[in-house]
Amino acid sequence: EIRAVHARQVWDSRGRPTVEAEVALAGGASGRAIAPAGASRGEHEAVELRDGGEGFGGQGVDLAVANVCGPIASALAGADASDQAAIDARLIELDGTANKARLGGNALVAVSLAVLQAAAAAEGLPLWRHLAAGAPVRLPLPEVQIFGGGAHAGRRTDVQDFMIMAPHAGSLRRALEITAAVYRAAGALMAERGPLAGVADEGGWWPAFDSNEAALEALTAAIERAGFRPGEDVFISLDIAASEFGRGGRYRLALDGRGLGSEAMVEMLAGWTRAYPILSIEDPAGQDDPAGMAAATRSFGDRVQVIGDDFLVTSAERVRAAAMAGAANAALIKVNQAGTVSEAKAALDAAKAAHWGTIVSARSGESEDVAIAHLAVGWDAGQIKVGSFARSERMAKWNELLRIEEALGADAVFAGADALPVRPL
Ligand code: PGA
Ligand code: ZN
Repeated sequence: EIRAVHARQVWDSRGRPTVEAEVALAGGASGRAIAPAGASRGEHEAVELRDGGEGFGGQGVDLAVANVCGPIASALAGADASDQAAIDARLIELDGTANKARLGGNALVAVSLAVLQAAAAAEGLPLWRHLAAGAPVRLPLPEVQIFGGGAHAGRRTDVQDFMIMAPHAGSLRRALEITAAVYRAAGALMAERGPLAGVADEGGWWPAFDSNEAALEALTAAIERAGFRPGEDVFISLDIAASEFGRGGRYRLALDGRGLGSEAMVEMLAGWTRAYPILSIEDPAGQDDPAGMAAATRSFGDRVQVIGDDFLVTSAERVRAAAMAGAANAALIKVNQAGTVSEAKAALDAAKAAHWGTIVSARSGESEDVAIAHLAVGWDAGQIKVGSFARSERMAKWNELLRIEEALGADAVFAGADALPVRPL
């Protein structure tokens, strides 16, 4: 039974204010959660409530914090924390808007996750075990950013994330060792080749490239330099985040100095999938271009995972519609896009029902909160995307997964290639 709900302003990994919620139960257990924040947000996701005005560049969260301490705390007092569906339904009803604009998606997601944490604590279980409820789980296949671009790196590249995946690593621990080697090799390579401007928002290297393909070429070279075979041991995964530079099926690649229609865009990406060891592409078309998403899935979805992020915004309804239309074969799952734990789980279940890949994902604005590592394992998502292999808001998640892998001991299973909707060679 919920005794108290409280919130405070804390700071995220970009130094912006965000909401931390704390839920105390009558039995003494408690849970805590911090809302993450996106930079390349989908149009249809739950909206963050920001104060506007002068303070913190308008990014203050006083209103969202007040909503937690006021109406939300009153509504949840005495409620059963173990009934997450009822808690989330109450939050949705109290907000009353389609996009969580009144109370704030940031307020709701922090409370929803804090209730979940409190329920796990009341049972004396780590969150992943509480979520799994005895069902078999796997350690997720990581997607790890090596180069950052797009909205996270001053738009140095049009493509937002240049990532790697090691589906045949055999264990999470080994997958991270491979990642560390490639990350180091990529940094050394870029330092040799010229301007390297530190790291981007999610910790990936932030070099200056002359073209998007130059980044693909450098990443392939980094995989080799680290001693791995591109396309055999280590594959490339891209988040195009096409909504950031496309509207109405027209795409403007600033770096390549090219304007492309939807068909030409898919054609270009198909060319990349043939020229480079690419295993996964996220948001190859914009959120308002379902025909582009479907064309991409038809073109290379038999050999490349096609993920919807901004296109699906962790909505079960959108996942079902896209599955009907063949407009992706995997869903990115971000709890704060949906606004509550239950809605995010529904989107994950809808994707699993379609035999899609599912990837639990962080946001570009993160914190020390490691709940997503537990969600990825406890929900058996099969894959996880956390950003890069630097900055402690990222490393905290990787390190938590190592602890979970150790706790599972001989029962630890690495999802690896089985998590993908396509077969890597
Ligand atoms: P965001 O980006 O958190 O800045 O929205 C992450 C992504 O596009 O996957
Ligand atoms: Zn994305």
